[in-house]
Amino acid sequence: MNIKEYWDYEMAVGRGYDKVRNGWSKQDFETRSDDTIATYLNLKKRYKVAEIGCAMAYACKNVAPKVKEYVGIDFSQAMLDEAKVLNKDFANAKFVNNDGLTIPIEDDYFDIVFCELCFQHMSEDQCRSNIAEINRVVKPDGGVALQFPMPRTADGFAPPIEFLKEAFPREQIKQYIHYIYVSTPDIVDSEIKQLVDDPAHCILF
Ligand SMILES: C[S@@+](CC[C@H](N)C(=O)[O-])C[C@H]1O[C@@H](n2cnc3c(N)ncnc32)[C@H](O)[C@@H]1O
Repeated sequence: MNIKEYWDYEMAVGRGYDKVRNGWSKQDFETRSDDTIATYLNLKKRYKVAEIGCAMAYACKNVAPKVKEYVGIDFSQAMLDEAKVLNKDFANAKFVNNDGLTIPIEDDYFDIVFCELCFQHMSEDQCRSNIAEINRVVKPDGGVALQFPMPRTADGFAPPIEFLKEAFPREQIKQYIHYIYVSTPDIVDSEIKQLVDDPAHCILF
């Protein structure tokens, strides 16, 4: 079973909620509004924002009311079907079935692209392709907030800091790379700060 089939299956057999965010129930998804990444984004009403690997789009309710457009991208249709139900009240939210390798969106479209708990499922090739596409669809003065797996906990490819510096050249994009593994509480702050505190490659907006 590949990773796409895995997520479709987990949703189909009723384990999707618990798997997406460890230990979360459907009720948690409907009622809890706290969200790590949305608190770091300085969202503005004119912004068009994309989320890569949105799954059931838990973050949507924290983002869509504050922006012009939210686009949730995921390659699991079962996840997206549930995302549409959970976020039916947000008329400015759209959901797109896509693997991130060729995002069906024009160049320089989004003000912000963000992603959490998704890169840890990718190989190095998928990671590189996704990052290239994110660079293409985000505006030159836009922002990128990506959560990558920590190298010592990741199942998939955990990009070293040098990889990220190369992938996001400082002169090309105004960006904020959020480097944190939210579901692993034992990660120490100093590991996260290595990247986030590097003034040459991270701009907090
Ligand atoms: C753990 S869930 C993350 C959910 C969401 N970002 C959150 O924080 O609640 C991982 C999701 O990433 C999706 N995914 C994994 N690799 C992907 C890829 N290459 N392209 C699109 N979606 C992908 C899976 O289908 C799954 O829904």
